[in-house]
Amino acid sequence: MNSPRHFLTLNDLSRDELLAVLRRASELKQLQRTGMPHASLSGKVMAMIFAKASTRTRVSFEAGMTQLGGSAMFLSSSATQMGRGEPIEDTARVISSMVDIVMIRTFDHEDIQTFAAHSSVPVINALTDDFHPCQLLADMQTWFEHRGDMRGKTACWLGDGNNMCHSYINAAKILGFNLRIACPEGYEPSPSVVAAAGDAVTIEPDPKIAASGAHLLVTDVWASMGQEAEANERNNALQAYQLNRELLDLADAEAIYLHCLPAHRGEEITAELMDDPNSVIWDEAENRLHAQKALVEFLLS
Ligand code: CP
Ligand code: NVA
Repeated sequence: MNSPRHFLTLNDLSRDELLAVLRRASELKQLQRTGMPHASLSGKVMAMIFAKASTRTRVSFEAGMTQLGGSAMFLSSSATQMGRGEPIEDTARVISSMVDIVMIRTFDHEDIQTFAAHSSVPVINALTDDFHPCQLLADMQTWFEHRGDMRGKTACWLGDGNNMCHSYINAAKILGFNLRIACPEGYEPSPSVVAAAGDAVTIEPDPKIAASGAHLLVTDVWASMGQEAEANERNNALQAYQLNRELLDLADAEAIYLHCLPAHRGEEITAELMDDPNSVIWDEAENRLHAQKALVEFLLS
């Protein structure tokens, strides 16, 4: 079996590779916007395996593959033999013998690692309980397009130390920005993920201190997919970490703010910031399309 390149976390790309993907993402955005053909993946097929809900991820990968001249097929894990207990190893071997690339959104990060270990084609992590690296490509593209190089700048993560937070930690280490994580006790990111980022990351329980002078503020839902039963408890614990005007006013005068969506207005972010005409959150969402097209091109090149 050949050994394909996978994208299970951001750490699967070097700094130079990541920057090249981000540059290509902006190029592809221009090609798309000006109607220039860019069918670099003619005939290539992507299998998209979803064990959790999705709007952006599904639409961006499916539209992106079509725009690149290929195609994508949606597979819900519950409607395939995976839902009836066929081993991941067997599923990976079979699916990867038929398609060129696989995208998976699932619960356990270990499951995607197992799939990748038995896949003869590249596997992309489209969100696990632990990481969401595709969203970070879009976020970094958005930050870069609006404010330029993030090296030496400061980002502030507000709220739950979840899968998105973990991918921000990886990004800070690779791209050379400082990440302050503002979260209450009991909601910290994984100590091993934090430790691997060395001095790129600090945990600051006071959201006002964490946001002060930051160039980027970013948050995410307080209850991720799979944590619905804990929603009330989480809302109470995380209330003080809402991304709002008061925190934005403490940040750098040129600060932008991001949210991967879907958002809960009035919980982790105010309606006012969500609906502010200067918000770049909608660019961030659109950039999922361009960034993932660049990623797929890279992995298949
Ligand atoms: N941000 C994100 O991954 O959105 P979806 O859950 O809609 O795919
Ligand atoms: N942390 C969220 C991100 C959704 C895109 C979740 O895992 O549900």
